[in-house]
Amino acid sequence: MGLLLLLIICQCTINSIKTHSVSKPNIILLMADDLGIGDLGCYGNRTLRTPNIDRLAEEGVTLTQHIAASPLCTPSRAAFLTGRYPIRSGMAAFSRVGVFLFSASSGGLPSEEITFSKLLKQKGYATALIGKWHLGMNCESSNDFCHHPLSHGFDYFYGLPVTNFRDCKSGQGSVFLKGVQKGLVLPIQITGITLVSLVVVHYIGLLKVPFQALGYFLLIITISLVVLIFFFYNFRQLNCFLMRDHRIIQQPLSYENLTQRLTKEAMQFIERNTGTPFLLVLSYLHVHTALYASENFKGKSKHGLYGDAVEEMDWSVGMLHMLLTAVEGILDDLCSCSPN
Ligand SMILES: *[C@@H]1O[C@H](CO)[C@@H](O)[C@H](O)[C@H]1NC(C)=O
Ligand SMILES: *[C@@H]1O[C@H](CO)[C@@H](O)[C@H](O)[C@H]1NC(C)=O
Repeated sequence: MGLLLLLIICQCTINSIKTHSVSKPNIILLMADDLGIGDLGCYGNRTLRTPNIDRLAEEGVTLTQHIAASPLCTPSRAAFLTGRYPIRSGMAAFSRVGVFLFSASSGGLPSEEITFSKLLKQKGYATALIGKWHLGMNCESSNDFCHHPLSHGFDYFYGLPVTNFRDCKSGQGSVFLKGVQKGLVLPIQITGITLVSLVVVHYIGLLKVPFQALGYFLLIITISLVVLIFFFYNFRQLNCFLMRDHRIIQQPLSYENLTQRLTKEAMQFIERNTGTPFLLVLSYLHVHTALYASENFKGKSKHGLYGDAVEEMDWSVGMLHMLLTAVEGILDDLCSCSPN
């Protein structure tokens, strides 16, 4: 039990906030899913190598107490962006599935919600969300983009509208199939027993069953089932894609050098905006399942693919740090953040 829930549980950790005490500091938020506090060197891990995150911690502050609004991606991200309990924006579910599973579903963070990205955009910030969104996409049609990051105060989006699903990467198993198979057993049993009972009462003469109408009904059910099963077997093709702004740029999503691509996008955004205050939210796909790492990191850590993924993310943090210290002007904006 809880397979579905367990696999999509995310604990969103903000690794670092870089600010400066001037009125319009540049802001970079790095977010990771499912990363344990004990997995980082700055929180005491001695076997996973996270030198870049550790350096940020050394130069800044480390916090040891935080309560997320929810242990799930969608509601906790809604709370993170708006500062409101997810139930207030309609982003808290009471069913087992509390997150958006399908990019084609019509729900999402209501466009009238006030996100910090909207507020900063109003103040003249260049804003970007790179990586995972997971707060919905469209309302009525497949291109109104009412829940899309660009409708929530971000000028630029490069990433995944939903989340990183196991089903998106071959060989990593499925979040859905087991649940669907399990969920179908009872309805099929009930339908079977009902049919047999109807045939029996019909032949005994207790009831005149309209078999033709029943036949159509069964045909519709069967077609729906076939469509459903087709969808789940083609989940990767249909639901896993990468977008730039409103355009799909890779479908299905490829995991090859994915973190490198996200990092490059983040760095280019910073380079494009050295003259303006900017907000960059880099929402990693690491270290949520499906776990992945590029060739440079695969098999390099002491903790399997999970460790490789953490170390790759740390590399990405290092690249941003390097860029920030290299770009003149931004250097001046870097905070000293000493916790005195
Ligand atoms: C470091 O992280 C790994 C991977 O999560 C974990 O197995 C190990 O116990 C951690 N070490 C410490 C000292 O917390
Ligand atoms: C991924 O990165 C590696 C190492 O930098 C490179 O050799 C390879 O060509 C890249 N693959 C793609 C598809 O860009």
